[in-house]
Amino acid sequence: MPGWLRDDGGLRPDEVKAVMAHLRTLADVKSEADPRPARWVGGDAAAGKRLFETNCSGCHGPQGKGGEGPALNNKVLHESATDSYLVETISRGRRGTAMAGFVEPSPVRPALTRGDIESVVAYLRSLQGGKS
Ligand code: HEC
Repeated sequence: MPGWLRDDGGLRPDEVKAVMAHLRTLADVKSEADPRPARWVGGDAAAGKRLFETNCSGCHGPQGKGGEGPALNNKVLHESATDSYLVETISRGRRGTAMAGFVEPSPVRPALTRGDIESVVAYLRSLQGGKS
């Protein structure tokens, strides 16, 4: 996987964003006709941090800095992803990838409630700008 930013002879950041927006329309997550504003989650970020450390940081790294899963403490993601997109992605997962849906229990962990997932999103939003 080569890097495609201009320094590497590739795409400008706005072009990367456009490609990502297109990829998201191909994902299962509904991106049109979402009646909610881009930011609506009012979850508990402190509870979300604990849930993240238990359920997510094994793949997404401490403070969402990335690992097997992509970095979630990521400016482009925070600018382009709505709260609905994040809640739905975490709830349903990505078919065909290591990213499981969390509204269903797995053999190794209980399911998360919608409220838990909203708290995780509140925590992810609190990471924006590098805060932890
Ligand atoms: C077993 C590893 C694993 C675990 C555990 C995991 N993820 Fe993921 N996650 C991934 C991978 C891999 C992807 C990239 C999927 C793809 O290629 O589309 C991903 C993608 C995502 C995305 C989409 C990012 C984007 O740029 O669109 C979000 C949001 C996300 N994960 C949040 C979470 C949260 C929150 C948790 C915990 C509740 C979690 N993940 C747990 C592996 C994991």
